[in-house]
Amino acid sequence: MAKMWAGRTDGNTEKIADDFNSSIRFDSRMFKEDILGSIAHAEMLGKQGIISENEAKTLCEGLGEILEDIEEGRLAVDPSCEDIHMFVEQVLTERLGDVGKKLHTARSRNDQVALDLRMYLKNENDDIDKKLLRLIEALLSKAEDNVLTIMPGYTHLQRAQPVSFGQYMMAYVMMFLRDRDRLADVKKRTDVSPIGSCALAGTTYDTDRFYEADRLGFGSVCENSLDGVSDRDFCLELSSAISIIMTHLSRLSEEIVLWQSWEFKFIDLSDSYTTGSSIMPQKKNPDMAELVRGKTGRVFGDMTSLFTTMKGLPLAYNKDMQEDKEAIFDSCDTVKMCLEVMSGMIETMSVNAENMKSAAQKGFINATDLADYLVNKGLPFRSAYKISGQIVAECISKGTVLEELPLSEYKKISDRFENDVYDAVDLVKCLERRKSFGGTSPSSLKEQIKIAKKKLGKA
Ligand code: ARG
Repeated sequence: MAKMWAGRTDGNTEKIADDFNSSIRFDSRMFKEDILGSIAHAEMLGKQGIISENEAKTLCEGLGEILEDIEEGRLAVDPSCEDIHMFVEQVLTERLGDVGKKLHTARSRNDQVALDLRMYLKNENDDIDKKLLRLIEALLSKAEDNVLTIMPGYTHLQRAQPVSFGQYMMAYVMMFLRDRDRLADVKKRTDVSPIGSCALAGTTYDTDRFYEADRLGFGSVCENSLDGVSDRDFCLELSSAISIIMTHLSRLSEEIVLWQSWEFKFIDLSDSYTTGSSIMPQKKNPDMAELVRGKTGRVFGDMTSLFTTMKGLPLAYNKDMQEDKEAIFDSCDTVKMCLEVMSGMIETMSVNAENMKSAAQKGFINATDLADYLVNKGLPFRSAYKISGQIVAECISKGTVLEELPLSEYKKISDRFENDVYDAVDLVKCLERRKSFGGTSPSSLKEQIKIAKKKLGKA
């Protein structure tokens, strides 16, 4: 097919060169943004008298029809075109003749592709945010149901102190709330219109960049044409924000994989989010959680690829930048899928409070409370810590736990122990005493839930 840019060269390129150069197989998903951008551009050209009002109207109608035809399946994107921008312009010119050729006045594919990508990623940002919200709500509801579900909290994956499962869920709520903040911040810098930067230097035509930006719902207009066509910070930022979301999802996945194991059995995933084994009939595998964890690596790969593509590029547009799309689209697609799967998994999982409690009863997770008890009886913390350690060793040698060691045994190690020591090591009371702001006590947890709901505009 004749190249629209044939002129300086005859446009007769090798097929392999065409295939190599083409981006249509991945940028055709921006057809709507491309057409809406072109409609705003045509309107602007008409308003400014760069083309006649009539021509502008013809272009807008023609573009509107192309949009409808693609959306309704009457027009298929031609995979032999170089990119979606060329495809739309080519169809327009085929349908309208010479008027169609006026659309590309006072613009370039360089500002056009930057515009399309920003429009597309603004929508993706909103979509990701919606899916984050669903996940946050699922976690919040599990937190509300498990304010007093005691489980062991870990450091070094060793049982450390009692926490509630609700406290655990809220830790993830806090992470995903920060992710929403990050997305909102990225959106501010995506919401800047580059159109009118043209190829790199601006234009000699009397354009109105602000009108175009306004018609397309942009909050502001980029202030330097070279930057306008070469800035991909909004991709780097979005891929970074997505990588952080994936990191959070991956950590949660890892917990789910552990919790679903027979060694923990803290939760039971719904059958609808697990798979069986082809050989071992007893298996119920947490494949979805593992895949979320696995896909995190792939999203980091996208991010690395974007940064590496950008880091050595001189201003302004370079064809290397065409490589931005597959990476950022893949990241968006992947994170959206992972968020949806994780939401469903959390919504449908059941919590084994009994197993969590019996795990909490092992591992001396109330030993810090025993030390705190002695501090209240007047001992310095280091001495209290040492005595508590001796008591733990005593329990281990006797095969018992702090709750069941007789007072006489306690007294052998320190005469400060009284009958109220059993209160001090009672797991529910251990939980209830951690009333510090952000702590695991039911009152502190309810406060966190309130704060989170307020951030979601629900309180
Ligand atoms: N398909 C190109 C891209 O994705 C569009 C911009 C092409 N501009 C150019 N001067 N060749 O980046």
